[in-house]
Amino acid sequence: MAGSGVFAEIIDGDVFNYYADGEWKKSSSGKSVSIINPTTRKVQYKVQACTQEEVNKVMEMAKVAQKAWAKTPLWKRAELLHKAAAILKEHKAPIGECLVKEIAKPAKDSVTEVVRSGDLVSYCAEEGVRLLGQGSFLVSDSFPGNERTKYCLTSKVPLGVVLAIPPFNYPVNLAVSKIGPALIAGNSLVLKPPTQGAVACLHMVHCFHLAGFPKGLINCITGKGSEIGDFLTMHPGVNCISFTGGDTGIAISKKAGMIPLQMELGGKDACIVLEDADLDLVASNIIKGGFSYSGQRCTAVKVVLVMESVADTLVEKVKAKVAKLTVGPPEDNCDITPVVSESSANFIEGLVNDAKQKGATFCQEYKRDGNLIWPLLLDNVRPDMRIAWEEPFGPVLPVIRIGSIEEGIHHCNASNFGLQGCVFTKDINKAMLISDAMETGTVQINSAPARGPDHFPFQGLKDSGIGSQGITNSINMMTKVKSTVINLPTPSYTMG
Ligand code: G3H
Repeated sequence: MAGSGVFAEIIDGDVFNYYADGEWKKSSSGKSVSIINPTTRKVQYKVQACTQEEVNKVMEMAKVAQKAWAKTPLWKRAELLHKAAAILKEHKAPIGECLVKEIAKPAKDSVTEVVRSGDLVSYCAEEGVRLLGQGSFLVSDSFPGNERTKYCLTSKVPLGVVLAIPPFNYPVNLAVSKIGPALIAGNSLVLKPPTQGAVACLHMVHCFHLAGFPKGLINCITGKGSEIGDFLTMHPGVNCISFTGGDTGIAISKKAGMIPLQMELGGKDACIVLEDADLDLVASNIIKGGFSYSGQRCTAVKVVLVMESVADTLVEKVKAKVAKLTVGPPEDNCDITPVVSESSANFIEGLVNDAKQKGATFCQEYKRDGNLIWPLLLDNVRPDMRIAWEEPFGPVLPVIRIGSIEEGIHHCNASNFGLQGCVFTKDINKAMLISDAMETGTVQINSAPARGPDHFPFQGLKDSGIGSQGITNSINMMTKVKSTVINLPTPSYTMG
């Protein structure tokens, strides 16, 4: 159960504490933030509402701790990360339970998220040891006008304090995807969890605490975005921001100082289906890609662009599979579970109503009970409908029938998003040409979009983000290159 056993010290009364200077603390605000269970729509947990003064203290501690951590040998950093990964996996059940209660993720997927996170942390340790264990060596005479009088040695050094802000849909996994790279690279961390998912995040942080990381190196601040959000992201003590979430990221990037930013801000991933595609494969991937975790993934298939000649057949196949999706509470491992909040459900309903007014074909009857929305496939969607462009982040998927491949590519590229996309065809030449033409960070050929495996590069173009993630890229992003140049009195040539 949440907050019990080894996790007993992270809760005080009925409010979960925040984590700073290696200790679990109560905020001086005396206030808490409630976390609503999306299924029951009742208060499930409470977390501390931290103050700006507490943020200041945490930043100071993180700065001091980072200086010592940067001097900790790489193998030792890796050893602690491996330990944290093992503890995390050992406690997959209570952390998974938090995910079920806070974000209504199906029980099985909740546990998978924790295990995947442990694996990610271990991989960061392995990759960091190799990547940061080497630098480069340059000689000056390759540039015109120079003799070999200069040797340049480069290495990667930490940035300092990394501010990590994960989203509600992967509060554990997308937190450790920032924590792991930051720590192995010698940075300290201030983590600001999303409100929904904060308690799972706090449990995950306790696993790092139990692993024995130095005091002040990892800190986790909870509270209201209105009180500490801008204060954190604009704080002069922050040396890097890694954010995953919605368009708040655009506002953050406008306000942040001259620091490296890593942003992943959603998508409208298109699934382009050609005439020669294996339609059974497409249908399975549309179900997996469009409806897993009720469509609340930035990499979900969010619009199907299918050639008119195969559209009827494909829609029938998808309809048959939608009919088999189970709908209900996450505890029962249903395929479709309540979306994260009432406002989210209202937003999705707004998109559905707009599509209805403008004449989309409803393949199922629209049904909603509280935050639970039944899976819905909308056929014959046209570009004048909001759902053709906006991301519902829910179990509602539009199908647009296209007359040519160019039409599909045009729709995909007209989006303000550019995260991933996919193309289904048996013709690899066409697939490659379409992939090249799609303005997205990744194109999957014959499979639904997905971020993993977690060492693959992961990036969005346009409003989908800044920078590239994936373990290797994140480690690189959370370091800067430092050069030392040795100037020789006379040219020196090898064996010369
Ligand atoms: O929601 C955003 C995530 O980065 C998507 O990750 O493809 O593993 O579901 P996923």
